[in-house]
Amino acid sequence: MSEYSGFLTTARAAALEAGALLREKYFQTTEVRFKGEINLVTEADTAAQALLFDRLSTAFPDHDFLAEEGLKEIRGGEYRWVFDPLDGTTNFAHRFPFFAVSIGLERAGSLVCGVVNNPMTGDVFWAEAGGGAFHNGNPIRVSETADLGRSLLATGFSYDVWTTRCNIAEHERLILRAQGIRRCGSAALDLCFVACGRLDGFWEFKLSPWDTAAGAVIVREAGGLITDFEGRPIDIYRPQVCASNGRIHETMLGVLKSV
Ligand code: IPD
Ligand code: CA
Ligand code: CA
Repeated sequence: MSEYSGFLTTARAAALEAGALLREKYFQTTEVRFKGEINLVTEADTAAQALLFDRLSTAFPDHDFLAEEGLKEIRGGEYRWVFDPLDGTTNFAHRFPFFAVSIGLERAGSLVCGVVNNPMTGDVFWAEAGGGAFHNGNPIRVSETADLGRSLLATGFSYDVWTTRCNIAEHERLILRAQGIRRCGSAALDLCFVACGRLDGFWEFKLSPWDTAAGAVIVREAGGLITDFEGRPIDIYRPQVCASNGRIHETMLGVLKSV
């Protein structure tokens, strides 16, 4: 038994349960509200968050909690769960089956566990600090591609893109250098795809802690690198994120900086 396996077991069970709830709602007509011009929230987001908070806070009543739909129970505790009940809401609302439940755990400010579950495909990723990263029980590693021109990358665009054009220029630069770029719509899954080598790199400008908490541990434990655009180690409370297999990292950062 490793140090965090108890936490991971509870988090995985909660992620599976919340995933089953999302899957059920996916096939029903869900109410969609607008948080911004193109930023949606559905009843599935709030129901999955309530379920996760119930399961995690019942198991760990002394822990702190931070989640996207207005959950902030921060009492200065040693452990903090940082989760997104539905990462990929736009996909969910359009019935595009690429979204996930994402749960990360911090201990005294360091990321120690992560679980990401795509309930539509049965892909479950997890990792704990020092224990390696896994996909459905099998160990995963990042890719070995060292050439940006042979790399498949992913990115995302923030909900203010209509007015800020944030990431349009960087996307243009990188699409002219990489083998391909995908905009899959779930940062948590994008990070897991870097971790298991389906993608070689990923970047985004304006992510939130719940988007990256789980995926960051999974990338790191799979041998990848995850930093801000200056190359500093990831801080999930800072918005810029660049994740890769390590080998193409400097080149990616160089292209991002060249804009
Ligand atoms: C979004 C997704 C998307 C990313 C956005 C996020 P949400 O999360 O992760 O891929 O590009 O920046 O906000 O709103 O679907 O939970
Ligand atoms: Ca999200
Ligand atoms: Ca979300």
